[in-house]
Amino acid sequence: MASEDVETNELSLVNVEGVGPATEKRLKQAGFRSIKDLRVRGPVDVAEATGMEMDDSVEICEKARIILERLGIIEQSFVSATDLYKKTRDKITTGSGSFDDLLGGGVETRAITEVYGEFGTGKTQLCHTLCVMVQQDRVAGGLSGKAIYIDTENTFRPERIASIAQARGLDPRQALEKIIVAKAYNSAHQELIIEETGPVIEENGVRLVIVDSAVAHYRAEFLGRATLSERQQRLNRFMHILVRMSETYEVAVLVTNQIQSSPDAVFGDPVRPTGGNVVAHTSTYRIYLKRSGKNRIARMVDSPYHAEREVLFTLTDRGISDVGETR
Ligand code: GTP
Ligand code: MG
Repeated sequence: MASEDVETNELSLVNVEGVGPATEKRLKQAGFRSIKDLRVRGPVDVAEATGMEMDDSVEICEKARIILERLGIIEQSFVSATDLYKKTRDKITTGSGSFDDLLGGGVETRAITEVYGEFGTGKTQLCHTLCVMVQQDRVAGGLSGKAIYIDTENTFRPERIASIAQARGLDPRQALEKIIVAKAYNSAHQELIIEETGPVIEENGVRLVIVDSAVAHYRAEFLGRATLSERQQRLNRFMHILVRMSETYEVAVLVTNQIQSSPDAVFGDPVRPTGGNVVAHTSTYRIYLKRSGKNRIARMVDSPYHAEREVLFTLTDRGISDVGETR
């Protein structure tokens, strides 16, 4: 308890030079609870919330970053490769040994994992399964944590969570208790939700944040070339909040994405994920899901260190499973 108090104090907004009681009040009204939120939401939001000049807001966010570095919450700007190598990242099992293998153990914290593929390839099923798996202890492949599910396509199904838990011998009621669902009705709402997510992570011991899907609202609302740059700007801001959130709060972030066909592709698969460079550059790992008869193929498309390869998995009562698992 005592150490918690110390941490809360160290992270309180007034510890940042330049944030006085009046600024603190305005920040709190805008949903900033701690120094972590300054880092996650960044200078534009801080300026909007407080009415301060952009330069001052940039300075405050920079000071927040330095404090978080000093406390070891985020990585320092310059860090030795050895220290980086030693840093273990937590992993959450997908429910399938072969899929975990592709990911080097499971879905990673402090990273963005993007999953794209055609309809019915299992993106939403993966999201549901992970929400159950993250709750299990480390021995069982989880992180004893809760999950946040940002549902933009209205495809979150509590019944499915209950059935996956049951099939895996877990208590369905408990599994449902530990998932916090936010339905996003449009892109602006989706952005509002992500702005409010930091404190919810902190207060609930969340280790996994799902966005199913990240891009759908933007695609539906911004049609035509004229709106492309605004769309990409908004999507860019959204994705960058996710990146900073994954690091600052040490959570795994999994986003799903749709595909578009690119008729100009001469070789290989004529499909690619939507969202352009913005999503490509902010995802740490990109995984492409494909049908293969009754089974599914997961291919690691883009990763800083995994080889590009494919594995087979399947969808059962247990959610994501290995081929050959009976139930
Ligand atoms: P879109 O969101 O439409 O792009 O598709 P998606 O990739 O999210 O597909 P989703 O994860 O919803 O996969 C749907 C598929 O999951 C179905 O076609 C079924 O094959 C499988 N599925 C869903 N629920 C169950 C279930 O209770 N049991 C089993 N065995 N399979 C299921
Ligand atoms: Mg889906």
